[in-house]
Amino acid sequence: MDKQNLISEINRLKKEKNAVVMAHYYQMGDIQDIADFIGDSLALAQQATKTGADIIVLCGVHFMGETAKILNPAKKVLIPDFEAGCSLAESCPAGEFEKFVNTYPDYTVISYVNTTAAVKALTDVVVTSTNAKKIVDQFPENAKLIFGPDRNLGDYINSVTGRSMLLWDGACHVHEQFSMEKLVKLKEEHPDALIIAHPECKKHVLLMADFIGSTQALLNFTVNSDKKKFLVATESGILHQMQKKNPNKEFIPVPPDDSVCACNECNFMRLNTLEKLYNCLLNENPEILIDEKLQKKAVKPILRMLDMS
Ligand code: 13P
Ligand code: SF4
Repeated sequence: MDKQNLISEINRLKKEKNAVVMAHYYQMGDIQDIADFIGDSLALAQQATKTGADIIVLCGVHFMGETAKILNPAKKVLIPDFEAGCSLAESCPAGEFEKFVNTYPDYTVISYVNTTAAVKALTDVVVTSTNAKKIVDQFPENAKLIFGPDRNLGDYINSVTGRSMLLWDGACHVHEQFSMEKLVKLKEEHPDALIIAHPECKKHVLLMADFIGSTQALLNFTVNSDKKKFLVATESGILHQMQKKNPNKEFIPVPPDDSVCACNECNFMRLNTLEKLYNCLLNENPEILIDEKLQKKAVKPILRMLDMS
């Protein structure tokens, strides 16, 4: 089927099945353009609580589909490619995380949303990169806190909140690999550009950044800034919306260390295609299913996050 037919078929199936398509900003432009809702991790979770649709198709990675399903156990939640995982979520196996948190029984456990349902079930409150500071700030200054799994985001939140949360040693393979050397060279070539970075990046990249924020915060920053050029240190899918919202501004993706191409793409996010989205709506598969007991435990820290956001 050609692209135009795929788009019409997806739109037809959405209507026929009362389905909503939600997409993360790291999806390919084609998928962002056909989505009913585009957002960062927090916005996707918030939107999942509001939809009246019978079917949610989450165009993102597996943990995002799980979050939507945990919040909507009675709805059908689909993802276009079941293999769309997340290296950060994988860097925190539930069994090992459980041993870690059990070593500190009097600590409150804060987990980034980029985790499996089993890790969320071990968590007191979930956060995203958009609300992590706001939520950590709501705990007393002397609170004993564990933060997992992203060591870079955890370290950044420690620095902006003055806390010393215990950090799980996990990371995202995309955000960890931005090349300092190439960033310095790009800044020399474009001295008028601002460097904007996601807090999942390593500290040396964050130290060079003019602005640090979640995917949504970075997008808002480019809209509100009077600067015309940005060096973007996050997954390059966000450039699609940055360019759409700022047609007269220039966005240059910061490349990874070992790149042959110029940009930085999450191979998991890019598994989703228009064709897979069509097939998934047509066949109502792959579907995210979560054991009821696990859902009941995992929903609590997510609802607490939505309350504290
Ligand atoms: P946000 O959507 O919270 O910016 O997170 C980025 C990310 O890596 C999602 O996988
Ligand atoms: Fe996970 Fe990193 Fe991909 Fe986000 S960009 S989905 S954190 S691997």
